Amino acid sequence: FPLPPPPAEPADPSRRRVLNLLLVGAASPVVFGVLGPYGASLSPPHPGGGRGGLQTTVATDVDGAPVTVAALVAAAPADGRKTMVVGVGGEPAWLTAAAPDRLDHFALCAVCTHMGCVVPWVPARGRYVCPCHASEYDHEGRVLRGPAPLPLQLEHAAVEEDGGAVLLSTWTEDDFRTGKAPWWT
Ligand code: FES
Repeated sequence: FPLPPPPAEPADPSRRRVLNLLLVGAASPVVFGVLGPYGASLSPPHPGGGRGGLQTTVATDVDGAPVTVAALVAAAPADGRKTMVVGVGGEPAWLTAAAPDRLDHFALCAVCTHMGCVVPWVPARGRYVCPCHASEYDHEGRVLRGPAPLPLQLEHAAVEEDGGAVLLSTWTEDDFRTGKAPWWT
């Protein structure tokens, strides 16, 4: 008997990543939970391959609900204070609670620069470790160990004064980690 055709994949890689996150399961309305090696089929980011210029988005949870800084800080574990949200271009992004009521001014796109797997933060190691080929990044997204060729993409993170929603936007200035123009623009 002929096998039934496989289910159609969403054509948009960003949407695929979010769907992958949904398949992994959300641990809370804000935190996406433990990430596994489920992104090997995803496409790697390309240097110079920006995502359509300057983009700004409201950070949301996997259901599309805006997250607030208060919820993020409350949900962030004390041993890392990192929380994953849906960021620019619908990609997963890591936010860091820098203080009890404040976020770092930048977010990190959680897409590995090697082959595009979603990169989890590993509190016990104090670094991001890619589940696919073991690339490692420091807390600001610099490559500590390859094969990842490039640091994680930066996004600006700002908090709206009314309501505390988190606005994420494309980082277009020089990359403070390299002192050079960002590779993603
Ligand atoms: Fe290969 Fe991350 S996708 S190390």
